[in-house]
Amino acid sequence: MKKRVLSGIKPTGDVHLGGYLGAMREWPKYQSSENEVFYFIADLHALNARPTASELRTKTLDLVAWLLALGIDSERNPIYLQSQIPEHSELCWLLNNFVTMGELSRMTQYKDKAQKSGSEGQLVALFTYPVLMAADILLYGADEVPVGEDQTQHVELTRDIAQRFNGIYGRELLKLPKFTHPAHSARVMMLDDPARKMSKSEGGDGCVYLMDPQEVIDRKFSRAVTDSEGVVRFNKQDQPGVSNLLEILAAVTGETIEVLEQRFAGNGYGDFKKAVAEAVIEELAPIQAEFARLRKDEAYLLEVLTRGKDRVASEAREKLAELKQVIGLV
Ligand code: TRP
Repeated sequence: MKKRVLSGIKPTGDVHLGGYLGAMREWPKYQSSENEVFYFIADLHALNARPTASELRTKTLDLVAWLLALGIDSERNPIYLQSQIPEHSELCWLLNNFVTMGELSRMTQYKDKAQKSGSEGQLVALFTYPVLMAADILLYGADEVPVGEDQTQHVELTRDIAQRFNGIYGRELLKLPKFTHPAHSARVMMLDDPARKMSKSEGGDGCVYLMDPQEVIDRKFSRAVTDSEGVVRFNKQDQPGVSNLLEILAAVTGETIEVLEQRFAGNGYGDFKKAVAEAVIEELAPIQAEFARLRKDEAYLLEVLTRGKDRVASEAREKLAELKQVIGLV
């Protein structure tokens, strides 16, 4: 039996270096003769950020093009949209009956927001976000879910929900998934604030987008925050900026931090930053070219999504029908 690997990605913001080195770059590597890989775009999950219609559409198609540009083979492994398979939402509703307010209140994504600005104004969709995610996973009996660290808690909750459901109905109807963190993932921080994880920033230079032209990448790295120590050394405590740059360079070149420290031992930060920018530009160039080529052909991107949907829809339908029957929905 092939192992089923499943993961989803939200079409919010633009894809950036943090997301790329943190997870996406590893995604194509799960494709093998032993694995069956499902990648979908969690467009329903993106709605709680209230994107405009055109934004959502653009980002969704961008993501399809990025997944293909990264090397996901959509002929063998389906790429599909969460919103095109209604069973995700329907299973989410069923699972809402197997999860408590307490459990969902403890999910950090919600908890952080509620602590910051109160729970009163938080959207129900944000609160129940992890239940839809559980549905995404359990609908297809995924064995393995590669996610970033911040999503571990959601996969654990998915296991709890599945276990509870199975316990109540007396057999293994839902498969308990395992999470994995991609083997070579790097935790990339903002270039202008190395205390913060890299994320989209309005107008700032701290976040490198995959789409950035070479001169922009170069500029962003040249402005990266460093320190006054003047030595290229890995020390997250005292030199967080330089350490972040070392980590990026190591991730991109595949070399160890120690080797890189030695190579840049006598160099000033200017040369070092230049080298990091060049390595990133070199890594991204072929992917950017492929993205540009694919993104122009929306008809093709839509066709990829239709193919993905056709591949997974019947399985989703059958699983949901089985669960409804077991529950007693006539
Ligand atoms: N919540 C995930 C994120 O923000 C995206 C996601 C939605 C997902 N459904 C999923 C990931 C199912 C893995 C499996 O990154």
